[in-house]
Amino acid sequence: MLKRQFPNPRELGELMRFRKPTLNPTDRRLERALTIADLRAIAKRRTPKAPFEYTEGAAEGELSLARARQAFEDVEFHPSILRNVPVVDTSRDVLGGPSALPFGIAPTGFTRMMQTEGEVAGAGAAGAAGIPFTLSTLGTTSIEDVRAANPTGRNWFQLYVLRNREISFGLVERAASAGFDSLFFTVDTPVAGARLRDKRNGFSIPPQLTLGTVVNAIPRPAWWINFLTTPPLEFASLTSTGGTVAELIEWAMDPTISFEDLDVIREMWPGKIVVKGVQTVEDAKLLADRGVDGIVLSNHGGRQLDRAPIPFHLLPHVVREVGNDLEVHLDTGIMNGADIVASIALGARFTLVGRAYLYGLMAGGRRGVDRTIAILRSEVERTMKLLEVATLDELGPQHVTQLARLQPVAKPVADAAAAAASSKPKAVRSPRPSGQLKATTSQATTSQATSSKATSSKAASSSKAPTRRAVTK
Ligand SMILES: Cc1cc2nc3c(=O)[nH]c(=O)nc-3n(C[C@H](O)[C@H](O)[C@H](O)COP(=O)(O)O)c2cc1C
Repeated sequence: MLKRQFPNPRELGELMRFRKPTLNPTDRRLERALTIADLRAIAKRRTPKAPFEYTEGAAEGELSLARARQAFEDVEFHPSILRNVPVVDTSRDVLGGPSALPFGIAPTGFTRMMQTEGEVAGAGAAGAAGIPFTLSTLGTTSIEDVRAANPTGRNWFQLYVLRNREISFGLVERAASAGFDSLFFTVDTPVAGARLRDKRNGFSIPPQLTLGTVVNAIPRPAWWINFLTTPPLEFASLTSTGGTVAELIEWAMDPTISFEDLDVIREMWPGKIVVKGVQTVEDAKLLADRGVDGIVLSNHGGRQLDRAPIPFHLLPHVVREVGNDLEVHLDTGIMNGADIVASIALGARFTLVGRAYLYGLMAGGRRGVDRTIAILRSEVERTMKLLEVATLDELGPQHVTQLARLQPVAKPVADAAAAAASSKPKAVRSPRPSGQLKATTSQATTSQATSSKATSSKAASSSKAPTRRAVTK
């Protein structure tokens, strides 16, 4: 028989502890966001369709981005147990300086169009969190103003080598004088990728007021008020060039850039130099031979070549070949701190986040970027604690299996030829009758090489659910 009693008023009082309400509406909104996806949902509600889709969208069929995200979703972690890890250290030395977390803010163009605080919010939030901020050549805040927003933190500058080389060289000099410590030379934009969403939205910079944009603006008054009452949108570091926006974009994409440009910039730049947008092992080796300090495995967030290599899949191959010669960084598709932890485990020195930062910015300006960083930080910390590793250096390939859904089934021809020529096997021929080659991505892939029942490529690509790669028992 259930025993009942009168409620004890003191116990009731203890139960009725109401939280102090958050009065500031931005803080209230952001507090409810527990994930980057939550920030994205707020950003979508508050930003007009054209700039939101400019940020969110990728090129052509958007397969590069979807695949990069899927690769992260298909990570399986292998936690250790009983390792006594009450606290974790998330800090990392990167390009000769410290970062409190294993990620920094990626360079993004037109940032003030997403939300008027733009790069000032990004640089300020990065500085406060002790992580690096990267300013784009097509940024909407000047080099000097970014320095002012993040005076004691680390600022990096991303360079597009413009058709007019003198303008690029001028930017390199300005960034060096403003104390930016690293230069990221972006190389995956010989021409602009086809951003079909922008075409369909009739997207223009600055946004034009058409009947459609006015209707779309009605539920988003704050964005328009900000847009119309703050200084006009411009490429702040390039205004002295006097070109129109269309001309500047045309100048920014130059199909004639080459290794010689890299050599010239290297001569001019006093700090660390990193090449952003590397997508093959061969190019990583060429860059290592040329003595650059780092590379970013990136397909520009899927905004350039569609069906591009998945940076996360490329990572272990590149780390194996050049990981001792230069720093290997990675971006594209990071939406969760666990994605960052998986990348570090497979050998990335550092990672960059683009859209995750912009979703925070659109959701709540500076406080929104603070929230992005806080969410990613707690996810990194929690994942490390659950894996029971105390430092990033303790993470290794043993902590990650890549499930089979998006594994490459045939390696590039040059790689396969090199493997055949070398006595040291780089790829293991599948025992399947089809004779396809399997990638060696991680611990599980290695064990999988001895498997006698590998998943067929057709099944892998058509299956909805991730398939664990076959492992010999
Ligand atoms: C809206 C937007 C603008 C970007 N602009 C630049 C740019 O000016 N220069 C550059 O090197 N990369 C640019 N990128 C690419 C990012 O630096 C980064 O490679 C990419 O966003 C990483 O993927 P993620 O957005 O999935 O994190 C841009 C990305 C976005 C989303």
